[in-house]
Amino acid sequence: MPESLKLTSPETTVELTVTDGAIRATDLRQVATDQGPLASYDPGLVNTASCRSAITYIDGDAGILEYRGYPIEQLAANATHLEVAYLLLYGELPTPEQLTAWENRVNNHRFVHENVRSIIQSYRYDAHPMAKLMSGVASMHTFYPSARQIDDPEARERNIVRLLAKIPTMAAWAYRHSIGRHYVYPNDELGYVDNFLAMLFQSQQLVYRADPRVTRALEILFILHADHEQNCSTNAVRAVASAGNDVYTSVGAGIGALFGPLHGGANEAVLKMLGEIGSVDRVPEFVEGVKNGGARLMGFGHRVYKNYDPRARIIKRACEDVFEVTGVNPLLQVALELEKYALEDEYFIKRRLYPNVDFYSGLIYEALKFPPEMFTVLFAVPRTSGWAAQWLEGITDPQQRITRPKQVYTGHRNRQFIAADER
Ligand code: ACO
Repeated sequence: MPESLKLTSPETTVELTVTDGAIRATDLRQVATDQGPLASYDPGLVNTASCRSAITYIDGDAGILEYRGYPIEQLAANATHLEVAYLLLYGELPTPEQLTAWENRVNNHRFVHENVRSIIQSYRYDAHPMAKLMSGVASMHTFYPSARQIDDPEARERNIVRLLAKIPTMAAWAYRHSIGRHYVYPNDELGYVDNFLAMLFQSQQLVYRADPRVTRALEILFILHADHEQNCSTNAVRAVASAGNDVYTSVGAGIGALFGPLHGGANEAVLKMLGEIGSVDRVPEFVEGVKNGGARLMGFGHRVYKNYDPRARIIKRACEDVFEVTGVNPLLQVALELEKYALEDEYFIKRRLYPNVDFYSGLIYEALKFPPEMFTVLFAVPRTSGWAAQWLEGITDPQQRITRPKQVYTGHRNRQFIAADER
């Protein structure tokens, strides 16, 4: 790996140092020419490192994902979601005492202000739950004004805990509102994931107790979705935070970004796609359509992974446990055939397109009887821990400045105004 690069023009030569991070990057702030600083043009920031980060490591070519240096496979096999949230936020796995204190602390904050309930309730019954979740989260700094004191470490931590604790409550209520059921309040006897399932599905029971296999599968899904370095929504969180914003406002923006069908909305789109294909024998025809410029194969391809997404492999295994409880989702066969067919096809091989995290997750969510609109919400709930960790890292990074990219201007210049009646 080179220590430095030389950039030469007829007038000057600039020596660029290469950063010591996991990917090679050069600090473009140092590039100046006689005509001023030289900017990079990089739509979608495909090849731009926007920050330094010690939270999540991805090697897209090798299919590696690590949180704070721990392989995702080990965390998914052994940890709980709250344990992983602690790891993302504090950089270390908690001791047993720290974990108990952390769980108690988060679980004590699960109730939300009744006015948040009114915000959710003010939507039409058929409003997308992501809109309700985004509004609920964005409103929270108005209930907890200390959130705006982002220079106070204690206030920062307190509000992160509140957000982690309350987002499942808001997510569950967004769902209950859409089906016209009464709201279920948090239950102190239940852990983070069990309580979430109870708030979603409880009907007449005094206490809803989920099948432990389902709880564990959702716990795994939560761990896999907890963070993924500088993806679209995390970048949105960091950009909004860079203007000096609190964690609720910043995460509210992240929820908006995640809603997009090319990002968190993809698992919903996968289910629709599998439903449209309908049967295994229609797979070849569908794939040919994709190759001829039809709809994209949803749940395939990734900006970073040019290999099998390691999360997809773990989810594929988790499907088996859930289907033991729920019965096999009939669309599984279509998904398996689609994967097999695409992975052997030259179009997908050449472009290095593999199943991503969204390809199989929707099958589990559907088997658990979640409507498709809830799929992205089920992504947002665990991703909140990653967003919060990234928010914290961003606002405490002395190198971080307000995010304000340049543009390459391509429009007119210096035109003369013409009065309306003369145009
Ligand atoms: N189906 C068919 N072709 C595809 C797909 C796909 N799913 N994804 C990429 N391609 C093709 C493109 O058409 C392009 O082909 P070309 O070189 O002939 O023009 C080539 O592969 C490169 O694609 P880009 O769009 O340049 O890749 P980019 O990195 O910008 O996009 C993305 C990544 C958005 C994930 C893309 O692969 C996609 O749209 N996938 C489907 C949506 C999806 O599953 N999103 C979830 C991503 S994971 C997440 O957000 C949690």
